[in-house]
Amino acid sequence: MEFLELVKKRRSIRDYRKDPVSDEDIKAVLEAARLAPSWGNRQCWRFVVVKDEVTREKLADKREWIAEAPVVIVACADPGKSGQKADQDYYLLDVGIAMEHIMLAATERGLATCWIGWFDEDMARQAIGAPESIRVVAYTPLGHPAEEKDEVSERLPLEELVYYEKYGQR
Ligand SMILES: Cc1cc2nc3c(=O)[nH]c(=O)nc-3n(C[C@H](O)[C@H](O)[C@H](O)COP(=O)(O)O)c2cc1C
Repeated sequence: MEFLELVKKRRSIRDYRKDPVSDEDIKAVLEAARLAPSWGNRQCWRFVVVKDEVTREKLADKREWIAEAPVVIVACADPGKSGQKADQDYYLLDVGIAMEHIMLAATERGLATCWIGWFDEDMARQAIGAPESIRVVAYTPLGHPAEEKDEVSERLPLEELVYYEKYGQR
């Protein structure tokens, strides 16, 4: 699939079929994450692939559509392995980039995802058995979509997003 076509096709899907995802597909999306760039190439991320229904339900935390997907990928980071500039922690960027790689690779394979950033981190850490030193940055269900969405949800036009030479200059 042509790159922009793929980018347009990715949508946040909140309705999943229960059909399993093949190990080949899981491996392919994780490989896309593995190849992502990161601060100092330190690869601070770790990914937990969750198929267990009880754990998926914990992570869903009453949002049943998350647990409907046969797989949840939980993206974690060891902040000590990434960098910092002033008050900016780069592990969030590292994991954000890797997650987008996962989501685009999934889309290319006809699979669906949805970034989950709203969750109780202690609950998530406990659900996957991660130590206190590890941040759970995000997770995503991974499965076959049960809903069809148009390409691209609402976005600001480029004229509003882009300045030339100086901030605020159009
Ligand atoms: C950092 C981040 C956190 C998000 N957290 C959630 C979330 O907790 N639950 C949810 O349903 N969607 C979440 N989303 C998905 C956004 O709502 C979605 O990307 C946005 O509405 C644009 O829609 P699209 O992904 O279909 O293009 C999150 C997205 C990002 C980038």
